[in-house]
Amino acid sequence: MQYSNKVMDHFTNPRNMGEIEDASGVGTVGNAKCGDIMRVYLDIDDDGIIRDVKFKTFGCGAAVATSSMATELIKGKHINEALKLTNRTVMEALDGLPQVKMHCSVLAEEAVRAALWDYADKKGIEIEGLEKPADDIHDSHHEDIAEDD
Ligand code: FES
Repeated sequence: MQYSNKVMDHFTNPRNMGEIEDASGVGTVGNAKCGDIMRVYLDIDDDGIIRDVKFKTFGCGAAVATSSMATELIKGKHINEALKLTNRTVMEALDGLPQVKMHCSVLAEEAVRAALWDYADKKGIEIEGLEKPADDIHDSHHEDIAEDD
């Protein structure tokens, strides 16, 4: 299995690892297939800008690398921008992932969405285009990515 230099870099030196106390939104998702879990914390200001983002994972190296990159991509962005983040964007930013590890990148995307959902829920607002996330990506519409792509 071949990992890009960027994947190795984000795996060995992950950005934004940790947690945020009193976060504006926290999202946790798992993948029952591999048993990995991802949690994302968002600190969002009154204008909807993501001031800070942190993640914690009980997951594989690819999950660490993709989460690290995902947090880098949404930090400082508006929540509407963060909503557009997909696992493909993250994988591209990492110069790709081996096909068997593609599903790992979905964990990061879904955890960001779950954290945004939690934020909207707490604030009593609706974020256009955001659906209630699944607790487990195995149950979600993304599962086919891992197998068919
Ligand atoms: Fe489970 Fe990578 S093997 S997230």
